[in-house]
Formats: sequence, C-alpha cells, structure tokens
Amino acid sequence: MGNLSLKLFGRTLKNPVMNASGTLGYGKEIEPLWGVETLGAYVTKGLSLKPHHGNPTPRVWEEKQGMINSIGLQNIGIERFFKEYFPFFKQKKTPIIINFFGFTEEEYIECARCIKPDRYILALEMNLSCPNVKRGGMSFGKEENTVYDIVRHVKAVTKIPLIAKLTPEVKNIVEIAGSAYEAGIDGLTLLNTMPAAVVDIEGKSIPIKGGLSGPPLKPIALKAVHEVSKAIPVPVIGVGGIMNHTDAISFFMAGARAIQIGTATFVDPYTIPKTIKNIKKYLDRHGYSKIEDIIGIANG
Ligand SMILES: Cc1cc2nc3c(=O)[nH]c(=O)nc-3n(C[C@H](O)[C@H](O)[C@H](O)COP(=O)(O)O)c2cc1C
Repeated sequence: MGNLSLKLFGRTLKNPVMNASGTLGYGKEIEPLWGVETLGAYVTKGLSLKPHHGNPTPRVWEEKQGMINSIGLQNIGIERFFKEYFPFFKQKKTPIIINFFGFTEEEYIECARCIKPDRYILALEMNLSCPNVKRGGMSFGKEENTVYDIVRHVKAVTKIPLIAKLTPEVKNIVEIAGSAYEAGIDGLTLLNTMPAAVVDIEGKSIPIKGGLSGPPLKPIALKAVHEVSKAIPVPVIGVGGIMNHTDAISFFMAGARAIQIGTATFVDPYTIPKTIKNIKKYLDRHGYSKIEDIIGIANG
C-alpha cells in the first residue's frame, strides 16, 4: 500500500502535501471543513516582525485560468501569531513552516532571530519576493549577490532549518538557487507568484497589479523544480498551479520532495484532502509502495 510519509529536514511527515503560504489563513479558518492535521505540514501566512496592514482593495482578481492577488502581505505579526495560533498547531500535533519576510535585510534577520526552535516548527520559509525598500523596491530574490547575502545573514541567527522561497521573475533560477545553496540554505520552495496586471477598458484604468497564481504558473514551476532539484542537493518544495493529484504527481516526478497547494483551495476548499487521497490511490494503482519511489523519476 502506497505510504505517503517521508522525511524532510530530519523529521517524518505523514504526507508531503502542504498549503501554500497566504492561502489558508492562520489555519483555524479551515476547521469547519477539515483540520490542519490533514496536512504534512501547515505553512503560515507571511509573517513580519510587526503587524502589517497590506494594500487597499481590490486585492484579489479572478482571471480566466488563475488569480491575481495584491494582498500586500497583510499579517498580524510574529508575536501575535505565536500567542494566539501556535498552541493550536501543537494541540493538533501538526508541524508548521513559518513563512516570513521583511522590507529590509535587518527585518528578515530580526524576524528569524526572534523565532525559538520548537519540535513543531519544521522550518522557516523566507519569502524572497518582497520589495527591498533600500534597493528601490527591487525584490530580494532577483540577484545572486543579494540572495547570497540575505541567506547567509539569516542562517547565522537561527538553528531552525531555513528554506528560501524563490520568485519566478529571474533570468536563471538555477543560479539563484545556487547562491542560496552556497550561503547555506537547507531547502528551496519554487515558486512564488508572477507579477501581472489587469486593464479595465471602460474605466481606462488598471484596477489591480499583483501576483499571478494558479494554472498558468504550473509549467514554469515544473521546469524550475526539475532543473533546480537536479542541480542543487537540498530538498525542493514545488508550488504553482497544483489543482489536483495529477498536477501534484507531476511535481514529485519532476523532483519535488513536497508540494504546496494555494489557488486551488479558493476554487474548491476540499482540494487538499482530495489530492492527498488521490495521490495515495495513484501509488496503489501503479504498485508503488511509497511516495519516495516517484520523486525525480521523470527523465528529460
Ligand atoms: C491570496 C494569496 C496570498 C499569498 N500570500 C503569500 C505570502 O504571504 N507569502 C508567500 O511566500 N507567498 C504567498 N502567496 C504565494 C503562494 O504561496 C504560492 O507561491 C502561489 O500562489 C503559487 O501557488 P498556487 O498557484 O498553488 O496558488 C500568496 C498567494 C495568494 C494567492
């Protein structure tokens, strides 16, 4: 029978399926439908040192095949998250990945420094798509040198495994991942959203500019996962346009050790439990005894 459990950062997860950061609130919101203990690990909404208001509306826009969001990293801040939500995950025995960000390198470092190791914290996931205020708003993840510096400095202040979540908006994702590796990263999440815009032709306006997610990202993320997982010897977590188990299995075969599901949850809030069940059925149907057997098996 297909076993979904696998090791990640020295810990055993019950399955390799996570939510994507920012798409499952603070975890408790899904309780009326299914519980966070369904997940291999829960990924927090992006947290910052201080609470953050985010952008004015509209913040979410439905496109034909995906969505554009401009939430602007609204969050309650690290301190409130630990006070009000972390005990809930412990009670549910669900490991969490803390997605965090800053607008300066110092904010990233402070954020990582203030998070104490705990057996229910699997890893920290640094969102490198954030605008760097000191560099005129250019994201931290776009240049090899910047990635190297920020990863090295954050790594120096934490004992928790550190993941870099990369932006697709780069010339060569393998080189960016390589810089993060040189700086000591423990894992990589590929990918974040792609900058996009909408035009209202009656109002002659741009109602929203933000990050495009959902199916259009999938082939881009699959290429990144495939190339990076072959080149860089740390676990890769695949994310982007995973709508069902078929998409999820494509990511495992391309080389992802775990996957995250975001936009699909807005389409069908049961996507995550359904995907977990159907991955298992796929393994059983094809005679695989464990999920590890299909990781990275796609050639080309
Ligand atoms: C509403 C919304 C909020 C998001 N917030 C964050 C965030 O706080 N931090 C982050 O790293 N990524 C954030 N993301 C990006 C997702 O985690 C994910 O990388 C992206 O949506 C691609 O996956 P998907 O196609 O499955 O949605 C957000 C995405 C959406 C749609």
